[in-house]
Amino acid sequence: MDPRSEVLLRQAGLFGGELLLAGLPADDLLGHLPQAHGWSWHAGEQAQLAARFAGRCYFGVEPGARACEAAVLFLPKSRELTDYLLASLAARLPGALLYLVGEKRAGIERAAKQLTAFGSPRKLDSARHCQLWQVRVDTPPTAPVLESLARHYSLPLSDGELQVVSLPGVFSHGRLDVGSALLLQHLDDLPSGHLLDFGCGAGVLGATLKRRYPSSQVTLLDVDAFAVASSRLTLAANGLEANVIAGDGIDAAPSGLSAILSNPPFHQGVHTHYQATEHLLRQARVHLLPQGELRLVANSFLKYPPLIETHLGPCQTLTEANGFRIYRARAR
Ligand SMILES: C[S@@+](CC[C@H](N)C(=O)[O-])C[C@H]1O[C@@H](n2cnc3c(N)ncnc32)[C@H](O)[C@@H]1O
Repeated sequence: MDPRSEVLLRQAGLFGGELLLAGLPADDLLGHLPQAHGWSWHAGEQAQLAARFAGRCYFGVEPGARACEAAVLFLPKSRELTDYLLASLAARLPGALLYLVGEKRAGIERAAKQLTAFGSPRKLDSARHCQLWQVRVDTPPTAPVLESLARHYSLPLSDGELQVVSLPGVFSHGRLDVGSALLLQHLDDLPSGHLLDFGCGAGVLGATLKRRYPSSQVTLLDVDAFAVASSRLTLAANGLEANVIAGDGIDAAPSGLSAILSNPPFHQGVHTHYQATEHLLRQARVHLLPQGELRLVANSFLKYPPLIETHLGPCQTLTEANGFRIYRARAR
C-alpha cells in the first residue's frame, strides 16, 4: 500500500462517502473505500486500477462527470499542475471538503499553502513521511480551462518555426529541453515508414518528425494524459496530423516501426526510475522492422549502450554535447 493511502486509511471515517480520489496510486485504496472512485492521468496506473476495480477509475485531464461529496488530491510533482488540479476539484465542491495528501519530500508542506485560495486549511495527520491536509471550500473558483493554462513557444527550426503548446505538468513545461534540442539537430536520414516518438511530452519531436517526413506515418506515445493532450495541441497548432496514444511503455506501441525516436524518461515523481527506458531498450526490437532504427538522446552518464547492443545491435554515438549523447542502433 502506498504510504499516502495508509495515511488516508488512518482517517477512514472521513472517507466513507462519494469521494473522488484524484491522482490515486494503483494500490488497494479503492478496495478499502467502496463508495470512492478515482481520476488518473497516468495510463499505467489507470490500466492496473481498471483491471482490479472496473468502472471505478476515470482517465483524462479533467475530473469527469461523476458527482462527488468530497475529493482528495494526491500531490503531483508540478506546482502548476497542482494549481490546475486543486482549482478543478474546488470548483466542483463549493462548501464541501477538499483534501491534499503527499510525501514531505514531495513538498506537501509548501503545497498545502495553495489550499488557502479556497479557505483555511488544516493539517489532519502526519505519518509515514506524509501529511494529510483538509480545507472547506468557502471561496470556490470558476472551473479552470486547461487550454488557457498552456504555455506557447516557438522553435526556429531549419524548415521553419515550430509552435509548441505545453500544458501544466508536462516535461520541460514552456521551454525546450537541452537533450531534446540536441536530438532535434540529429533527425537526418531516418528510414521512411512508420516513426514513433516514444515519451512524446509536448510533442516537439513527433511534430518535427511529421513535418520533416510528411509521407511517413508518425505515432506519438506518452503515459501521461496531459502530455498526450499537449501533443495533440502542438500538432494542431502546426497543422499536422499524427496518431497520439496514451500508453505505458513501449508495449503500448504499434509494431512494424521503421524508427523509434526518444528523449526517454529518467524521472518519475520524486524517485529516479529508469525502468521504462530499460524496457524500451530491451523491447525496441519487437516493434521495429528489420534494419529499423532506434535513435535516442540520453545523459552521457547513463550506461545505455551495453543494453542497446545486447538487445538491438551495434550502438553508434552520433554526437556528444552539453552532457548529452545521441545514440543510434539498427535492429539486426
Ligand atoms: C524526458 S521526457 C521527453 C518529452 C519530449 N519527448 C521532449 O523531448 O520534450 C520523457 C517523457 O516520457 C514520458 N514517460 C514516462 N514514463 C513513460 C512510460 N512508461 N511510457 C510512456 N511514456 C512515458 C513522460 O511522461 C515524459 O513526457
